[in-house]
Amino acid sequence: MLFKFPKNFKLGVADADLQVIGEDFTQKFEESQPTIWEYFAKHSPRVYKHHTPGISINRYQLWQNDIEEMKKMGVKHYRTSVSLARILKENGEINQKAIDWYREYFKNLKNAGITVYVSLYHWELPQALQEKGGWENPDTTKFFIKHAKTVVEYLNDYIEEYFIINEPWCIAVKGNYQGGHAPGNTDLKKALKAAHNVMITIGLTFKELIKSNPSLKIGTVFNSESYYAASTDPEDVLAAKLGDGHFNRWFTDPLFLGKYPEDMVDFYGKNMPYIRKDDMKIIKVGDKMYSFGQNNYCGKVVEYDGNSPLKFKDVFIKGGLKNDLGWPITVPPHYPEGLYDMISKIYYSYKDHGLKRIYITENGMAEKSKPDKSGKVNDIRRIAYLKEHLRQIHKAITRGIPVEGYFEWTLMDNYEWEEGYKDEGRFGIIYVDKDSMKRIWKKSAHWYKKLLDTSIIPE
Ligand code: FCB
Repeated sequence: MLFKFPKNFKLGVADADLQVIGEDFTQKFEESQPTIWEYFAKHSPRVYKHHTPGISINRYQLWQNDIEEMKKMGVKHYRTSVSLARILKENGEINQKAIDWYREYFKNLKNAGITVYVSLYHWELPQALQEKGGWENPDTTKFFIKHAKTVVEYLNDYIEEYFIINEPWCIAVKGNYQGGHAPGNTDLKKALKAAHNVMITIGLTFKELIKSNPSLKIGTVFNSESYYAASTDPEDVLAAKLGDGHFNRWFTDPLFLGKYPEDMVDFYGKNMPYIRKDDMKIIKVGDKMYSFGQNNYCGKVVEYDGNSPLKFKDVFIKGGLKNDLGWPITVPPHYPEGLYDMISKIYYSYKDHGLKRIYITENGMAEKSKPDKSGKVNDIRRIAYLKEHLRQIHKAITRGIPVEGYFEWTLMDNYEWEEGYKDEGRFGIIYVDKDSMKRIWKKSAHWYKKLLDTSIIPE
């Protein structure tokens, strides 16, 4: 079978400002605000060797070179983020130096024939806002809306589409319940409060931006992972439902249905956030959004665990593949097709509630392969990963599901949050040597170029 994508299908690459830019440079040259990640990385034992996003891959100075790499690869669609910590100063004033940097970067991308998609938040919260309560404090929303409006006012000429927030689950739950992401809290009630405020922020920001310019194309991006019961035992089936409720439905139901899933409201009980009269109306903007973004890396098989507060725990399937960070890769034969299942679940759950089109805004493989003696990086497991997932997307399209874009994560190895710069966390199709900052195309970059050139999934 020829796995060819439709003509208008957007095939691209993704990254995020704080993972590539080098925060030390933006602080030094444009007085950007220190982020929660700089603080968290320095203080939390959860961050690998306390690696900070200070240098990252120095996109700040090497951006011209990196645009050349994209051009060589034939990249036409590029998703990145514009950082709140750079755009606004602590007193709320606009940081002109940051605007100028982004304008130059985006203008050159445009001139290179590369369409830019912008996330307005990919976890670049200033530490100063965190110290006032971060996402638990509704004032963060006001600050964020000012940021969003500023980006549109100054940079809209170069931006094709917007995603308001990247992965509310990670921001709220990983950051405030699991403690593995900044700010590192471990309190479910705090996490659900932060999640509620993040969802309100999505709703309010959407309304504000659309009011100022109805032609803007705006969506937002969620984590998406299929949850499977480890057995047909009713308790395991319940565990999979709870996993899905906790990770997926808790965020997507409010966006499209204007309510939290009832089973989860009961389950969370006294940990539920306070919900004001109009909150759910504010959040329900899914039907008006241009796109729905799904980030997908893995899926989960779970069993019931009476000792865990969330009542489910992950189990690993014997023989099932994992990426080098240990995330289970949901591809046959050991697993079902996790990405396909997730795409169809989202589509059939919300198509009658206004969902128009789906983008896979992130998908990719962590693999620690390094240059061999001849300087080649032979990352064949990444190629296999991408091929399998792209085929699942192709299948969704042939079955009539409107998936209209795919952004591979990621163009270049970069700062992988709590995993720092460890080799196991390299997601790039371009290898970055951390000492010389040299960019080296991996085998997967050549493979991806073929896909970009032909829209056919290469063998
Ligand atoms: C996602 C993040 C992205 C990247 C990948 C591997 O959750 O959105 O920044 O770190 O994981």
